[in-house]
Amino acid sequence: MVSNEDIQKIINALKLYSTYDFTNYSERSFARRVDKILSDNSMTATQLSLLLSKDDAFLEKIVKDITVNTTELFRDVQTWITLKYQILPKLKQNKSIFIWHAGCSSGQEVYSMLILLNELEMLDQAKVFATDINTDMLAKAKSGIYKYRFNLGYLDSFDKVIKQNPYNYEDIKDVPYDKYFDINKEKDTIEMKPFLRDKIVFRKHDLVNDGNIFYSKFDLILCRNVIIYFNNQLQHEVIKLFSDNLYRDGHLVLGAHESILDPSSLGFERTKGLYKKKYNE
Ligand SMILES: C[S@@+](CC[C@H](N)C(=O)[O-])C[C@H]1O[C@@H](n2cnc3c(N)ncnc32)[C@H](O)[C@@H]1O
Repeated sequence: MVSNEDIQKIINALKLYSTYDFTNYSERSFARRVDKILSDNSMTATQLSLLLSKDDAFLEKIVKDITVNTTELFRDVQTWITLKYQILPKLKQNKSIFIWHAGCSSGQEVYSMLILLNELEMLDQAKVFATDINTDMLAKAKSGIYKYRFNLGYLDSFDKVIKQNPYNYEDIKDVPYDKYFDINKEKDTIEMKPFLRDKIVFRKHDLVNDGNIFYSKFDLILCRNVIIYFNNQLQHEVIKLFSDNLYRDGHLVLGAHESILDPSSLGFERTKGLYKKKYNE
């Protein structure tokens, strides 16, 4: 495994030659990514740092390689069931519903939200913003095209969230997949419908530096499976950013294995596995 000194060398080079600051990423997962990058490029940390100082395109590529982009349609079904039955219906009377997906990766989480909103007849009111640090992932998200065979599990999760009702097994809604996406088995693709794609505002955004770039507060912020890569200090700063930019009674949705250490100190109350903004400090 790469040494702490080498890790520091790379973090310093990135900081010096770009705006990216990985100082407060969790050490273990950052070291694993750097290890892989060094072995894929057959380089030492010193060689890598030198190239980062000279080649902007290489630097951007390395930043993309550092990020972990795994995602799915309706990832963690239970979270979507909570949103469907407990959280979203309470927003139905709002004239507008502001939603921010921070760390959206290739967009499956955002499309899951739009499909659910449409089923709840709430899509027209929704203003949906999606951000990520990785522009390759944002391009994929904008295209809304995913592999089909590799992602057969998407259909199962769609059925569980959209067609079935866990509180009443006899209540099954017949929602065809092609209401929302086209499956092309020959091309091996799932392609989201334009009426979903066109609804999303995608922007490059770095949670370490950029704050709220949307000049709006939010009813719902999803930042799932992102802060797991940050240390406690950065987690605290990012959660504070979300707290400052949620409306009272707005919700923050983290990943299934993520939590806030002391939610009340940041104005949150944990409820049904999500975080509800209670008051402004
Ligand atoms: C594992 S994916 C999570 C995708 C999706 N939210 C989900 O749960 O399925 C983590 C995403 O966080 C993004 N990310 C990492 N550091 C970031 C930062 N400082 N600012 C914004 N996004 C970041 C990565 O590029 C990656 O796409």
